[in-house]
Amino acid sequence: MANAKPPTQNQPPPPRYNLVRLIAIVLLALIVLVGLTILIIWLTIKPKKLVYSIEDGSVHNYNLSNSNHLNATYYFVLRAYNPNKKVSVYYDKVHIVVLYDDQTISTGIIDPFYQPKRNATRFKLNLSSHDVTLPQQIARDLKVERSSGQIEMIVKLKARIRFKVGMWKSRHYRMKVTCAPILVHYYSSSKGFQTISCDVDI
Ligand SMILES: *[C@@H]1O[C@H](CO)[C@@H](O)[C@H](O)[C@H]1NC(C)=O
Ligand SMILES: *[C@@H]1O[C@H](CO)[C@@H](O)[C@H](O)[C@H]1NC(C)=O
Ligand SMILES: *[C@@H]1O[C@H](CO)[C@@H](O)[C@H](O)[C@H]1NC(C)=O
Ligand SMILES: *[C@@H]1O[C@H](CO)[C@@H](O)[C@H](O)[C@H]1NC(C)=O
Repeated sequence: MANAKPPTQNQPPPPRYNLVRLIAIVLLALIVLVGLTILIIWLTIKPKKLVYSIEDGSVHNYNLSNSNHLNATYYFVLRAYNPNKKVSVYYDKVHIVVLYDDQTISTGIIDPFYQPKRNATRFKLNLSSHDVTLPQQIARDLKVERSSGQIEMIVKLKARIRFKVGMWKSRHYRMKVTCAPILVHYYSSSKGFQTISCDVDI
């Protein structure tokens, strides 16, 4: 048994409803406009990831005592490349950490610098371990690798950076760069060194 309802009358919607609809349309238009603007800016700037690599590395003055104290100096050539045509980069703080087997064996900093567009800058990093105490297991691993002539190290950077496009400067971003694994030879720099590209996370 169909219970036919009386046909709804086609009366004009109340003014309140009209206002809500208007606001919704204006909001939607604004969102689309802002989205389009961002898209156009993005396409004009075409931001590209910063590119990092380690081009050379070696270990010098290595001395690991029987009580697992490590002295050594490390030499790395870090290449920082900004491939962007319209974006330059301020590096306000750069921390370097050198790890072996997840153990920090050395730390350092790179002085603040400004990197222009399409610029590659090489940093010669001289770092060292001064009487660093290693856990037994890690010291043992290091001795084994030492006798093989090269050790596998990790270099990490933590930086606070800002981008500059034209006159506009962005807020600060944290950047993490991980270069691993770096096969580092004792003493001989460059000898068959395999360039490592790093992971960049902003
Ligand atoms: C390592 O250091 C110890 C103690 O400082 C020293 O006696 C030893 O000669 C050093 N070895 C090398 C190869 O430099
Ligand atoms: C490391 O160097 C310090 C002095 O800089 C020295 O006292 C210590 O014995 C050295 N340790 C090793 C293992 O060579
Ligand atoms: C990269 O920028 C640095 C610092 O401004 C400058 O000294 C260097 O010459 C530039 N390198 C290239 C390849 O443009
Ligand atoms: C850095 O280390 C390299 C290789 O050991 C050396 O030739 C250079 O003189 C060092 N530079 C500084 C500033 O200590």
